Amino acid sequence: MKLFAYACLPVLGLSFSLNSQAASIYAGKSKAAAVCAQCHSIRNISAEAPFPPLAGRDDAYLQLALKQYRDKTRHSDIMNNIAGSLSDRDINNIAAYYSRLQP
Ligand code: HEC
Repeated sequence: MKLFAYACLPVLGLSFSLNSQAASIYAGKSKAAAVCAQCHSIRNISAEAPFPPLAGRDDAYLQLALKQYRDKTRHSDIMNNIAGSLSDRDINNIAAYYSRLQP
């Protein structure tokens, strides 16, 4: 399964680099694996409270939530801290990645 996921990465990276303005699912996945997965899990299959599932959530909702955590209009000690280091580009990429996963 892991092998399959890695095999798909170059394909995703290629199709999304055709439009340089488009969010990069490939970059979103690396960021998610490096930063988010320790709590939310990479595909959110085994996510447990208090970590809400992210897979298949609306792209715009995820972007909004992360921006609100970043500017602290939504409060969570953990997420304010984490979102504080994300650029707009990171947020777009991560939201593109999680929103396309099967919930
Ligand atoms: C140290 C654990 C931890 C890490 C790492 C983490 N989160 Fe979270 N996340 C949480 C917790 C706890 C909540 C619930 C906070 C709350 O009540 O608002 C949350 C909430 C969220 C929500 C809100 C979901 C909803 O249902 O509204 C989003 C979106 C989110 N995280 C995205 C991310 C992303 C993207 C990353 C990686 C950049 C990440 N998180 C990394 C712990 C974490």
